[in-house]
Order: sequence, then C-alpha cells, then structure tokens
Amino acid sequence: MAKVIYPGTFDPVTNGHIDIVYRAVELFDEVIVTVARNPTKTILFSVDERVDMLRESFKDLKKVVVDSFEGLVVDHARNLNAIGIIRGLRAISDFEYEFQMALMNRKLAGEITTILLMPHAKYTYLNSTIVRNLAQFHGDISEFVPPHVFERLKKKFDYK
Ligand code: COA
Repeated sequence: MAKVIYPGTFDPVTNGHIDIVYRAVELFDEVIVTVARNPTKTILFSVDERVDMLRESFKDLKKVVVDSFEGLVVDHARNLNAIGIIRGLRAISDFEYEFQMALMNRKLAGEITTILLMPHAKYTYLNSTIVRNLAQFHGDISEFVPPHVFERLKKKFDYK
C-alpha cells in the first residue's frame, strides 16, 4: 500500500492545496495531510483549527487522513510508514526551496522520496499569506478558499 504525507503550515488551507491533494489521491492509496505544529512562521489559526478546516475540506475523500506533527517531516513519514512526501510546486520561485528541502530530506531518510506536484495554473500566485492579507481587509476570497474556510476568516476578521 503506497502511503504518502503532505506536510505544510496550512494557515489556512487554500484551493491550491486542495488541488494538490486531489492529484495525490489519484496516484497513491493513502494521503496523510499533516499540519506542522512548530512552523517558524507567525500563525493565525491554531493547530486544531487548521486540522478541522482540512478535515472538512477532505471529508468526501476516503483516502485522505488529516493529522499534525512536531519535529522533522521525515521522522513523521517514517513513523507512518509513508513512502513519500508530497509538495506543491507553483512556480519556478518555489523550486530552489523545494529542491533544497527534498535533498536534505533525502540525506536524512534516503528511503523516502519527495514528489513535487503542480497545481492548476490558476493557483500559481496563491498562498496562505495572500489569503490572510485579503481577509484582514475584508476582501472577497471566495475564489481562493472553500466556503467553510471563508466563514472562519470572516469571523476572525469581523467581516460585516
Ligand atoms: N497552493 C497554494 N499555496 C501553496 C501551495 C499550493 N498548492 N503550495 C504551497 N503553498 C504556499 C503555502 O500556503 C505557504 O504560504 P505562506 O508562506 O504564505 O503560509 C507557502 O506556500 C509554503 O508553505 P508550506 O507548503 O506550508 O510549507 P512551509 O514552508 O510553511 O512548511 C514544512 C513546510 C511543514 C515541511 C516545514 O516548515 C516544517 O515544519 N518542517 C519540519 C522541520 C523539517 O523537517 N525540516 C527539515 C526540512 S529540510
């Protein structure tokens, strides 16, 4: 059984992340979407909130499991017997960071392969920071996140 993990900060999950997961379930038997508990970023949503939003987003996909992790991605992958790490590649600007991370992860755990998947071109410019920034100023982000995520952002930022 081919199991992979898809790690990220997901603060919050966007339609770009969801696009990647839909591609991954076509290729693998189980996809574990896993929230980093200790990112080096300033976070808007708690781990529990991010996990809840991911579970709601993938409730119709039987092959998807959502969890969270602390520490190294490769240790979590090993603990789960995953064969690979999924990452999204939106543009050439992502490449250097992803390449460096993939090679470091290979050095740490040679048996785990990084798989880079490209989302639809319409998500090329999308990331969670842009979504949070737009929401902060009560922008319309309905194109970029699922409705239940938009509702959470409306509450956080007190949309009228
Ligand atoms: N659609 C939309 N946005 C996307 C995307 C897609 N398909 N793919 C990535 N992004 C965005 C994310 O929203 C995020 O945006 P933000 O920076 O505005 O929040 C950004 O691209 C990249 O974030 P993410 O994919 O969540 O990765 P990350 O760099 O925040 O975290 C971890 C990656 C979780 C693997 C890493 O931070 C971590 O915690 N590692 C643990 C320690 C470790 O193992 N280190 C060794 C690795 S060398």
